[in-house]
Amino acid sequence: MSQQDVIETTDLTKAYGDFIAVDKLNLHVGEGEVFGFLGPNGAGKTTSILMLLGLTEPTSGIARVCGYNPTREPLKVKRIVGYLPEKVGFYEDLTAKQNLEYTAALNNLPRGDASKKINELLDTVGLSEVAEQKVGKFSHGMIQRLGIADVMIKDPKVAFLDEPTAGIDPEGIDQVLTLIMSMAKKKVTVVLSSHQLHQVQRMCTRVGILAKGHLVAEGSVDRLGRDAIGGGKFRIEAQVAQPTPKLISSINKIKGVINVESSENSLLISCDEDLRPQIAKTIIDSDSLLVQMKIEEYSLQEIYMKYFRES
Ligand SMILES: Nc1ncnc2c1ncn2[C@@H]1O[C@H](COP(=O)(O)OP(=O)(O)OP(=O)(O)O)[C@@H](O)[C@H]1O
Ligand SMILES: [Mg+2]
Repeated sequence: MSQQDVIETTDLTKAYGDFIAVDKLNLHVGEGEVFGFLGPNGAGKTTSILMLLGLTEPTSGIARVCGYNPTREPLKVKRIVGYLPEKVGFYEDLTAKQNLEYTAALNNLPRGDASKKINELLDTVGLSEVAEQKVGKFSHGMIQRLGIADVMIKDPKVAFLDEPTAGIDPEGIDQVLTLIMSMAKKKVTVVLSSHQLHQVQRMCTRVGILAKGHLVAEGSVDRLGRDAIGGGKFRIEAQVAQPTPKLISSINKIKGVINVESSENSLLISCDEDLRPQIAKTIIDSDSLLVQMKIEEYSLQEIYMKYFRES
C-alpha cells in the first residue's frame, strides 16, 4: 500500500457459482478522492462495494481499506467506514432523530456531542422540520437524505455511497453533491456508484467504468476523454462568417491548439486550455466576423456511451 492509498484491491473477484460478478478488480483510491463506479445494471458495482465493506467475501483476490483486510478484520473496517446502501433501511417506528441517535450510540459517540451533531446534520440534509417524525412515513428521497446524515454521523475515514442521489429531487441533489464534496475536503475518501453521469462528472476526481464485472476504463474524466475520444480536453466552437483557409491556418498556429475542423460557418477547435481569448483575437485580426463562441469539455456521457457502443 502506498502511503496515500486508502483503498487498494488486487485481483478482487467475486463468483456466484459459475457466474463471475466481479472479475480481477485492481483499484487504488487515495485519501480525499471521490471515486465513482459507473456501469450498467448488474455490472458489479454494488458487489465491489460490499467486498470492500467486508459484507460479502471475495472468491479470490485481496481488498484493503486503510490497510485493513475487510474479510479478516471486519470490525476494524466497520469502525472507520460509513455506508449508504442501495436500499437504505431505518427503524420505521422511530423518528429521524431517534434513528440517528441509535447510530451514534452504536458508534459510541458521547451523548452530548451526538445530540449537537445530529441537529447539525439534520439541518444539513434538509430534514430539521421532520426530525421528530417517524421514518415510516418518509418518502424515498427523505430516507435517502437521512441515510447520508447517518453515514456522516461517525465522521468516517471512508464513505461508501451506493447511488447516493437516487430518488432525490433536483434541489436535494445539489445539496447532496455539495455534502459529498465537503466530505472530500475534510479528507474523507468517498467511493460511490451512480448512473447519473453528469453528477459524477461534477464531483468525482476519478471514475471506473465496470462492464460485466470487468473494469474497462479507469481514470480522471479528462484522461478517459483523451483515450476514448481523442483530441484536447476542450472543444471550442466558433461561429464565423465565411472562415478563410488563411484564418484556419492562423488558428492552427496558436500555441495549444491541437486540431481545427471547419464547416460552412463554424470552426471546431480542439485544445487543452481555454483558448477563447486568443482564438477571438485571431478571428477579429483576420477581419472575419465572429458571431458566437461556445466551449465544451469532455462529457462523461460521451465517454461512457463510447465504451458501451464498442463492447
Ligand atoms: N447474492 C447474489 N447471488 C447471485 N448473483 C448475484 C448476487 N448478488 C449479485 N449478483 C449478480 O451479480 C451481478 C452484479 O450485481 P451488482 O448488484 O453488483 O450490480 P450493480 O452494478 O450494482 O447493478 P445496479 O446498477 O443494478 O445496482 C448481477 O448479475 C447480479 O445478478
Ligand atoms: Mg448496485
